Amino acid sequence: MSKNIVIAIDGYSSCGKSTLAKALAKKLHFIYIDSGAMYRAVTLYFLRNNIPLDDHEAINTALRDIHLNFHSRDYQSHITLNEEEVSEEIRQMPVSELVSDVSAIKEVRVEMVRQQQRMGKSKNIIMDGRDIGTVVFPNADLKIFMTADPKIRAERRFNELKLKGEEVSMEEIFDNIAHRDFLDTTREESPLIRADDAIILDNTTIDQTEQLDFVMEYIKPLLTKTAI
Ligand code: DC
Repeated sequence: MSKNIVIAIDGYSSCGKSTLAKALAKKLHFIYIDSGAMYRAVTLYFLRNNIPLDDHEAINTALRDIHLNFHSRDYQSHITLNEEEVSEEIRQMPVSELVSDVSAIKEVRVEMVRQQQRMGKSKNIIMDGRDIGTVVFPNADLKIFMTADPKIRAERRFNELKLKGEEVSMEEIFDNIAHRDFLDTTREESPLIRADDAIILDNTTIDQTEQLDFVMEYIKPLLTKTAI
């Protein structure tokens, strides 16, 4: 097989990165990796085990005890934490409220980036997150930077959670998104920034099919060049 293809999707919280990544994975038969799920699973472990976020020794010990795995089913990415399926639990508010603080910890990032780079070594993958095109795969074949109006993002997230029967207010969601944007873009360790060579996709007013068509125009030449 010729060189594997890596597509990096970065962007703000709740702006449709995973929806686009899953649709692309399905269309291209690539593996989808949700890097945010890894930070969320670590956060869940820290919450369950009361790991103080300023205790570096406890954090390093915890990181050695955390084993994360992805299982791909129908192009959805399911994550296990020490063999327990936690894909649902990591989306709930207690994790969402703490995950930006946990993902700002250097030791956590070093370990997650190491695992992510290993996953992209030999397979065609699509990975979404905040630092995929800048830190994890600076040589990715295609980098996409996604953004959308925060109000629209909050609305989409609200509808998603409502469908799942979670009782949260729109205000709570908007505040969480605004807070996470702030933390993700201002943290010291690999803040969310657009890589110079990333294409920008603002999906405030465009639907999923239009997004897919837009990025496919950039992907097609890669497929013919690398003949997978
Ligand atoms: O994509 P998400 O909302 O599930 O990500 C959860 C949090 O994890 C987000 O607030 C920032 C962090 N994150 C990160 O710092 N780096 C990544 N590559 C992915 C997520």
